[in-house]
Amino acid sequence: MTLIESKKVTKVYKLGMTTVHALRGVSSQIEKGDFIVIVGPSGSGKSTLMHILGALDKPSEGEVLIDGKKISKLDEWELAMIRRKKIGFIFQTFNLIPTLNALENVLIPTEPLDGEQEDYRERGENLLDLVGLKERMHHKPSELSGGERQRVAIARALINDPEIVFADEPTGNLDSLTGDKIINLMLNLNKEEKKTFVIVTHNQDLLKIASKKFIMKDGELSKIDRNHRVRKFTEKRTK
Ligand SMILES: Nc1ncnc2c1ncn2[C@@H]1O[C@H](COP(=O)(O)OP(=O)(O)O)[C@@H](O)[C@H]1O
Ligand SMILES: [Mg+2]
Repeated sequence: MTLIESKKVTKVYKLGMTTVHALRGVSSQIEKGDFIVIVGPSGSGKSTLMHILGALDKPSEGEVLIDGKKISKLDEWELAMIRRKKIGFIFQTFNLIPTLNALENVLIPTEPLDGEQEDYRERGENLLDLVGLKERMHHKPSELSGGERQRVAIARALINDPEIVFADEPTGNLDSLTGDKIINLMLNLNKEEKKTFVIVTHNQDLLKIASKKFIMKDGELSKIDRNHRVRKFTEKRTK
C-alpha cells in the first residue's frame, strides 16, 4: 500500500540573484511498513525532500500524493489533520520546548485543533516508558541528556499514532552508542508496530538495516540496490 508518493518534484529557492535547485525532479514512493534510509552529503536536498513529503512544505513543481490524494488540492484544515494524525516528525535538533517537562512536550501535538480535548496523558506516559524514560517524565529538557531528549522527541512523534515517521538526522547530535539505541528503538517500532520510517542521515552504516536505500546528490534521488549499485531515480521534468 502506497502511503506517500512524489511525482517529478522540484524545489527552487530564490535568494536575491542566486537560484538554488534543491530538488531536481524527485519521484518516489513510500509503502506501508518501509524502513527507508536516505543518505547524501550536506546540502544535497535531504531535508527539503523530507519536508515536502511530510506536507510541511510545498514543491515548486510536481505533485505529492498522500493516500492517493494530491496535497495541492487539500485545504489548510485537511493538511493540518494529515500533519497531525498521519505523520510524525523527528528533527535533528529535537525541537523541544525548554519550559515544558518531558511529558508536556510529548503531549504538544495533542492540543485540540477543534476544541475537543481527548485524554492523551496515559498514552504519553506509556510512550515515555517505551522509550525508557519512565523515571524522567517530569524533567525539563535541560535536565536530560542528548539521547534522552531525542527519545522524548520520538515519543512526541508517536503520540498521535501516525502511520509514518520522518526522522531528519535523528542521531546526528548523539554519540554513536546512544545513536545505535535510538535506531534500534525505531527498528523495533517498525517490526512490532508496523510503523513506516523514513530516515535521513549522514551515517552510511544505517544503509545495512534499511528495507529501501536511497542516495541524494545535488537534488537528485537515486536508489541503491541490493548489490550496492546506484540507479538514478530522478526524472527531469519535461515541461
Ligand atoms: N529556506 C531555504 N532558503 C534558501 N535555500 C535553502 C533553504 N532551505 C534549503 N536551502 C538550500 O537548498 C539546498 C538543499 O538543502 P537541504 O535540503 O537542507 O539539504 P540537506 O538536508 O541534504 O543538507 C542547499 O543548497 C540549501 O542551502
Ligand atoms: Mg538536512
